[in-house]
Amino acid sequence: MSLNYVNLRPYLLQTNVENKIIDESKQGEALLVKNASPGSGKKLFLESYGCQMNFSDSEIVASILIDKGYTTTQNFEEADLILVNTCAIRENAELRVRNRLNDFKRVKLRNPKALVGVLGCMAERLKSQLLEEEKLVDIVVGPDSYRDLPNLIEEAEDGRKAINVILSKEETYADLTPVRLGSNGVTAFISITRGCDNMCSFCVVPFTRGRERSRDPKSIIKEAKDAFDTGFREVTLLGQNVDSYIWSGGGLKKDILTPEQKAESVNFPKLLEMVAQINPDLRIRFSTSHPKDLTDEVIHTIAAHENICNYIHLPVQSGNSRILEMMNRGYSREWYLERIASIKRIIPGCGISMDIITGFCSETEEEHKDTLSLMEAVQYDFGYMFMYSERPKTLAERKYKDDVPENIKKRRLQEIVDLQRIHSGIRTKEGVGKTHRVLIEGFSKKSQDMLMGRNSENSVVVFPKGNHKKGEYVNVFTDRCTSSTLIGEAV
Ligand code: 5AD
Ligand code: SF4
Repeated sequence: MSLNYVNLRPYLLQTNVENKIIDESKQGEALLVKNASPGSGKKLFLESYGCQMNFSDSEIVASILIDKGYTTTQNFEEADLILVNTCAIRENAELRVRNRLNDFKRVKLRNPKALVGVLGCMAERLKSQLLEEEKLVDIVVGPDSYRDLPNLIEEAEDGRKAINVILSKEETYADLTPVRLGSNGVTAFISITRGCDNMCSFCVVPFTRGRERSRDPKSIIKEAKDAFDTGFREVTLLGQNVDSYIWSGGGLKKDILTPEQKAESVNFPKLLEMVAQINPDLRIRFSTSHPKDLTDEVIHTIAAHENICNYIHLPVQSGNSRILEMMNRGYSREWYLERIASIKRIIPGCGISMDIITGFCSETEEEHKDTLSLMEAVQYDFGYMFMYSERPKTLAERKYKDDVPENIKKRRLQEIVDLQRIHSGIRTKEGVGKTHRVLIEGFSKKSQDMLMGRNSENSVVVFPKGNHKKGEYVNVFTDRCTSSTLIGEAV
């Protein structure tokens, strides 16, 4: 393993804070549940980092602990239990959490009974270090062991170090009702798969979150219906690779073998259709798609249902086929561009976004230019762009050298970001002079007189409040824009 870690702040070319994938403004957000019953009187401080999946997991954790009588606090100084749901995808995410754990140490000095726990993707990787060497934490719990939390807390209260990082074949938390925390009351997130079988060579997720398994569609439909009945108007179906969702009675995806099992199973397009049929006023989004698994059947299903949003997040990672092969992505540049052509043919105007990693092992200047030319060919609405960060245990760490110097990574990233800024501007301008059906999510960032929402393509639209309120659909005619926001009037 090289220690030459680079600082990897994602570049988000979508200025709105309600970004659905990795929301910088929400990193480290502590969750607060309103009207929780007094219960045991113990106070929980629960802070989350990383992707939407992690935030969604925190809602499961809160549900388990509120059931045990905990109330929540946003002030860690007064907490009896401090939990941090962590992310390991890039080095800087881990560094941030480690700094935070030192803050929490202060609480323990004052209140030795207070417990500190690390949840999520860093748990497996850093278990012994966190528990033994640095003595920063009392409890370490991996993403599949949240049901065990009450027992682990008891163990820790008895003065024993408590740890469970076992990854499961079955766990999907299907029967647990998440408490919707920090939510705007309009958009909810529902996990449909856990883990990942793809083994992209740069990615630590298969090691931290385990093998891929899908959740029972009945429990997904129930959760989406419950969300609608309590006022939510949009659900985002979450998974590391939603297109490979397959339900055939439970267990690991790799174990679904026979053609009969496959024929009787529920695949992703079927699931999308089932959720779409709950109510025409319930919008459906999903994330993340994988180019190798995004079929025309999925694209046709989106096109056939008014309430499935015309928006696909389709990470490309690189525009060069040799690098894609080294990344073990399972597709070439040509395959990816063919998928994009299919999307544009079947859903004209569909919003498309990407993830790109620049400076992957041995990437040449020519190969970097292939990424820029692919971006030109696609013209993404927005994107999440990163410099490659070597992660322990991954295939790339074992097989390849992280040999692109940091200054070159930085310069390449800047070129990618600059080009994306131009494309985002072009795509936003294309939305001006049109009427958009917008689901109102709340006030705009800048003014309480303005409301904000999104159109189907996931562009942010801002307009004067009038008599409208959040949770409503409204048609907005846009007559101007900033680089990433459409501005107009309700019609
Ligand atoms: N270095 C940089 N970016 C990474 N990602 C995943 N692993 C790494 C890594 N080791 C990015 C990919 C992925 C997104 C969630 O994070 O672009 O799609
Ligand atoms: Fe990581 Fe690839 Fe799985 Fe995404 S699809 S979580 S990048 S291994």
